Amino acid sequence: MLPSMPDPPDRPIRVMFTCLGNICRSPLAEALFRKHVRDAGLEARFEIASSGTGDWHVGSGADPRSAAHARSLGVSLDGHRAQQLTADHLAHFDHVLVMDKANLGDALALDSDEAHGAKVRLLREFDPDPDDYAVPDPYYGGADGFAHVQAVVDRSTRHLLGGLAAHYGLKAE
Ligand code: 4NP
Repeated sequence: MLPSMPDPPDRPIRVMFTCLGNICRSPLAEALFRKHVRDAGLEARFEIASSGTGDWHVGSGADPRSAAHARSLGVSLDGHRAQQLTADHLAHFDHVLVMDKANLGDALALDSDEAHGAKVRLLREFDPDPDDYAVPDPYYGGADGFAHVQAVVDRSTRHLLGGLAAHYGLKAE
């Protein structure tokens, strides 16, 4: 279930994708969700971003391995610059989709007033084939890890859009 809120808000719905470094998984999730939104004619209805819970890569571009997978699906990560998830982001965004349970714990730790926890969800809750609910960290692994991330993130973001469109009663414009 998505957290309840006015349906639909009279402003774009704010969606944040969060991983650890904001260079591999969440930039790909951001770009693929943006593509699904555009394909559905819903661009005007969403504000979309990505971030990492860690600060090591702030200001860096996307990992070239993720960028190559993005290109193979027709999207570009060229303009990406990594940023760190903040408490202000948690207040601003309506939905924060994290890649694994470590991201979930780190994101919830920013919510010191316990006001925004219901917004933070594992992306794979929206995956019809969720396995262990994690988008595994591919950073230190081989090419197989990135191929798996690509397939899981593409499918999960597609179903996330379906879930949000149903929840908010969105129709293509
Ligand atoms: P991401 O991957 O969280 O999907 O962006 C990682 C990127 C960098 C590191 C770990 C994971 N790192 O340890 O630097």
